[in-house]
Formats: sequence, C-alpha cells, structure tokens
Amino acid sequence: MILIVGGAGYIGSHINKELNKRGYETVVFDNLSYGHEDFVKWGNFEQGDLGNIDDLWQVFRKYPIDAVMHFAAFTYVGESVENPQKYYLNNVRNTLNLLQVMLEFDVKKFVFSSTCATYGNPVEIPITENHPQNPINPYGKGKLMVETVLDDYSRAYGFKYAALRYFNAAGADPEGEIGEMHEPETHLIPLILDAASGKREDIKIFGTDYDTPDGTCIRDYIHVTDLADAHIKALEYLKNGGKSDFFNLGNGNGFSVKEVIETAHEITGKNIKAVEDDRRPGDPPVLVGSSDKARKILKWEPKYADLSKIIETAWNWHKKL
Ligand SMILES: NC(=O)c1ccc[n+]([C@@H]2O[C@H](COP(=O)([O-])OP(=O)(O)OC[C@H]3O[C@@H](n4cnc5c(N)ncnc54)[C@H](O)[C@@H]3O)[C@@H](O)[C@H]2O)c1
Repeated sequence: MILIVGGAGYIGSHINKELNKRGYETVVFDNLSYGHEDFVKWGNFEQGDLGNIDDLWQVFRKYPIDAVMHFAAFTYVGESVENPQKYYLNNVRNTLNLLQVMLEFDVKKFVFSSTCATYGNPVEIPITENHPQNPINPYGKGKLMVETVLDDYSRAYGFKYAALRYFNAAGADPEGEIGEMHEPETHLIPLILDAASGKREDIKIFGTDYDTPDGTCIRDYIHVTDLADAHIKALEYLKNGGKSDFFNLGNGNGFSVKEVIETAHEITGKNIKAVEDDRRPGDPPVLVGSSDKARKILKWEPKYADLSKIIETAWNWHKKL
C-alpha cells in the first residue's frame, strides 16, 4: 500500500491515478486545505492534517503502508516571502512529523516533491543536479531543508529516499478525469487558458526585454502524467535496492511566455489578450533543467514533451470546469 500525502492536489492526484492503473493499492492523506476531494477517484481516502500526529498514527495503524509519496506543502513563492512561518511550519516541521511516524512504523521508502526552486538563480543552463543550491525564498529554502534532513536520515536510519526536483508541472490527465485547479491560480498555462475562455480579461507578460530570442522569459514545462511516471519509476528504483538520490524532472526544452501564449491561441482557437508589463524582481530569464540523470538511472522518458500536447490536455480539462 502506497501512502500519498497531499494526493487530493494537482500533482498527487495524477500520481494516484497512475499508481492504481498499474495495480498498486493506495491511500490518500490530505487535509483538503488546497486539495479537492473529488480528485481522489482511486484508492482509499483519509482526511487528516500532517500537523496533527494522531491523524498520521491512525493512518499508519489502519493500512499496511510500504512506501510514502509526499506532495503536501504550501506552494506560493510570493506568500512564502511575506509569511515564511506558514511555509516552514507546514513544509518543514510537518514533514518531520511524517518522517517521525514513518520511522516509528519502520516504513523506509520515501519519494519527495522537491523543486527547482532549491537551486535559486541559475549560474548555468541547463541546470543539472550538481548546480549549486542557493534558494532565494523561504519556499525553496524549506524544500532544501527537507532534502538535508532526508540525507541525514538516510545515512543514520537506513531510510531510502528519492527527492524529485520538478520544474514547472503542467497539463492534465489525457483522459480528462482530473486536472489543475489551484486557488488562487498563479501558474502560467491555466492563467492563459482563463484568458482564452474569458474567465479573465488578459494575461500579463512580465518583461519583454530579456536576453532571450523573443525577449520573454523561458521556462521548462513538464507534463503531470510524465511526472507521475517518474514517481513510479523512482519508487520502483528504491524497491529494487537503488540508493537514496535526487533527480531533476523537466522537459529539457524551454518555452518562452510568448510561445506558450501563441500555442494556446492555436490550440484553443481563441483570442488571448496579452498585456506587456514590467519585469518582476527575482525572475531569471531562463530556467531549464537537464533530466539526463533521471533518464539514465530511472529509465524515464517524457511522453508529452511537446508544448501543444501539454496545452491540449490542459485545455480539454479547462473546458470541463
Ligand atoms: N506545481 C508545480 O509546478 C510544482 C513544481 C515544483 C514542486 N512542486 C511541489 O509538488 C507538490 C504538489 O504540488 P501541487 O501543485 O500538486 O500543489 P497542490 O496544492 O495542488 O497539492 C498539495 C496538497 O497538499 C495538501 N496539504 C497541504 N498541507 C497539508 C497538511 N498539513 N496536511 C495534509 N494535507 C496537506 C493540500 O490540501 C493539497 O491537496 C508540492 O510539494 C509542491 O511544492 C510543485
């Protein structure tokens, strides 16, 4: 039985679907603070809060858990700067609760949602796992703290982990059963689709004078179903005796903000009003990761690397909302 903490959220729900498709038994643990109960369409569901260790004990007593995948966290970078305590308490302290209960129940396989935000401003593109980790906000710092804890636990307790550093998760379940629904939404593709469907008036482009071919920022988008596949491959790698390790998960191709808007226009057939605005502080011009290590060690190969495919699946889901 795989415990999916935060499995009612965007990424966790896609992993839950994929695990069940491949014959795994799952239990989702989520406090629904940002998740959606109707995203938990597969496996078992237990509502509970990581901040409350009793909730965790109950779940570990009730199910024969072999491994844990941990998606639960607050995810708004800007908010983490304004209210760091909220982030350190949930993303760091509450993760320590989870690890404590795992050790108490002798569960020692852990797949962790880390992030490219642990690298901070890139000094080299593409970003490999050897890039220095100098996060520039409490969100990224908290994730790096957890990676550090995992490294120590792995040495001391025979604990096995895979820390997966995602770039920008995007797209939706190709079968359209679940998708992206953040409240508030800050991710580029859903915001563009909101502009396409008339839910918002326009989409702002922050900075058009970057040193990139069309002047707008370039980011690496990774399809959520490819992320799901990578998680399962990471789990199987640990089960087969793989050593604790960390892996970037990105597409390897960067797309500019203007390219994303243009592709969304082609897919949706809608006019999307783009408004050019000033640069935002702290936005690097290019953030693209190398996932060669995951390809090589986990034998992972993204299937939805094409931007049109990513936007098409997101649009099919978006139209249902
Ligand atoms: N979305 C991205 O592009 C991206 C990129 C890099 C890393 N990540 C990481 O991936 C993970 C999942 O991101 P997402 O976009 O699916 O976010 P999400 O908000 O959709 O999912 C997080 C889930 O965790 C739950 N949760 C939060 N705190 C909890 C607690 N104390 N107890 C129980 N449940 C709790 C929420 O209710 C939610 O369902 C996060 O850890 C995030 O930091 C996301």
